[in-house]
Amino acid sequence: MCGIVGYIGKNKALPRVLTGLKFLEYRGYDSAGVAYIIDNEIKITKEVGRISSLEKLIDEDSNSYVAIGHTRWATHGEPSVSNSHPHRVGKFTVVHNGIIENYLKLKEDLKKKGITFLSSTDTEVIPALLDYYYKEEKNILKTIKKVISILDGSFALGIICDDDKNNLYAVRRGSPLIVAKDKDGMFLASDVPAILSYTNKYILLDNDEIVKIGEDCYQVYDQNLKEKEKELKTFEGSYDAAMLNGYPHYMLKEICEEEKVFLDTLNYYVQDNAFKDNIPEFKHYKNIHIVACGSAYYVGCIGKSLIEEYAGIPVYVEVASEYRYKRNFYDENTLVIVISQSGETADSLEALRKANKDGIDTLAIVNVVLSSIAREAKYTLYVKAGPEIAVATTKAFLAQTTLMALLAVKLAKKEELLKEFQGLDKKIKELLNRSYLDYALDIYQKDNAFFIGRLVDYALCLEGSLKLKETAYINSMAFQAGELKHGTISLIDKGTPVIGICTNSSIAPKTISNLKEVAARGAYIIYITNEKVNDEFYNKVIYIPKVHNIVTPILAVIPLQLISYEVAKLRGCDIDKPRNLAKSVTVE
Ligand code: M6R
Repeated sequence: MCGIVGYIGKNKALPRVLTGLKFLEYRGYDSAGVAYIIDNEIKITKEVGRISSLEKLIDEDSNSYVAIGHTRWATHGEPSVSNSHPHRVGKFTVVHNGIIENYLKLKEDLKKKGITFLSSTDTEVIPALLDYYYKEEKNILKTIKKVISILDGSFALGIICDDDKNNLYAVRRGSPLIVAKDKDGMFLASDVPAILSYTNKYILLDNDEIVKIGEDCYQVYDQNLKEKEKELKTFEGSYDAAMLNGYPHYMLKEICEEEKVFLDTLNYYVQDNAFKDNIPEFKHYKNIHIVACGSAYYVGCIGKSLIEEYAGIPVYVEVASEYRYKRNFYDENTLVIVISQSGETADSLEALRKANKDGIDTLAIVNVVLSSIAREAKYTLYVKAGPEIAVATTKAFLAQTTLMALLAVKLAKKEELLKEFQGLDKKIKELLNRSYLDYALDIYQKDNAFFIGRLVDYALCLEGSLKLKETAYINSMAFQAGELKHGTISLIDKGTPVIGICTNSSIAPKTISNLKEVAARGAYIIYITNEKVNDEFYNKVIYIPKVHNIVTPILAVIPLQLISYEVAKLRGCDIDKPRNLAKSVTVE
């Protein structure tokens, strides 16, 4: 998604803004731009492609001490220089993250008033409205207040007005935005990594708060423009988390952190094989809805298997973008669980808001502290994955899976199962230390791949398949093992890779039969299991350690992640920033 960085202070602004934008690259983008003040004039430079291309067009050493920058992930209008941000109309220059839903109507109205537009974006209506109403209001804060009352949708805005070049202005609704302070200046950013090279002191703006930022101070205003006290917080995470530290890619670095992430999540909730008191004593829910998107949805599918199996509570897993628009059958006996790494995914957030509005108990399982989903749910449980930079989620998936397994134990009231989590870190480490290159070599030149498994293994297949698609651009599909033969088996050809997962001995004979069916049709079988098989129906096998079923998915996902990583590397893909993708999808 788009990224915003602004700086105003005693130091040169462009290096700070460009450094910050590079730390937001993980969010995904296709063009970038900056607006900066030099000799009391505003200059704008924009370019399609990487920030490095933009850097070539700018003298970073310019004597500019005020700047706003932006990385754009195209939604309205193709990636082009004219559609890139900042957008400028009259006296106002704006960078925007989010979507203005009523922009077409606003654009039509503004055109009738004689305003011309240079881009096909929704964003350009914002500086146009600011410039238009400023002529009436003659006050920047009042103008911002007026304009945000007209906008529908989500936005985080960084604003410069020609009449006040000694301040930056910012406001947000829906999309995240922080203000940060170091000893020489002030920053504006979409996310904490953008400022961590300079400071860890920040405030998170709430919806509809407007902030005026000077070179060493800031003032927050509420919706009625009443001044508000908002103290700086200290970001406790480390700068290290946002650095590669010698790894070639964030994806690999983050997978290698999984042993620690598992322990951090476990130890946060459990001590001496007993729950600490930081998971609420939930009442007995008669049913649970799990709502999420992408990989977080697949964690929900794993959660469904575990909660139904161990706690005996029926669980319905739904994709958030559907859930928010459909009729949902919930009542006071329902718990709605929203899973989200970022805590800012627009569809998941709206699904949560719908359940909250209907008075249903909601529980957020989130990685990013104080994100919107974390703050708006009735209950929040954090996973301890730390900042995840690679677009493809790996360590957060493992941490979320760990927490779902703990939640299953909690809801089942079977604390004795907590001992099954002990020592798993060593098994994670053992899996991380293996090489998966051999399996990747079997896959990387293929156009299609299939993943098949039953029950919780099917949920793992969904994740393995998504990882391969998003990082290595291989068309891959996941199927319940018994379902492939009902049509899709026609796609199996000589050499088609089929990754079969079976971690449950009670269903192994059935899954093996299905694998034999595709082997008979020429498929190349990679079998992932935790039990020795004598029958050599596969081409290659990966044995994962045999542990209790409740913790097995935590181990089983690791080979899937590392195979995708190796395949993506062999195919020369942009592993950490796959094409067309964004880390945190803050638009619907
Ligand atoms: O931040 P969230 O967990 O809400 O994100 C949900 C999905 O967008 C995310 O899991 C996505 O599918 C990842 N790219 C998968 O690696």
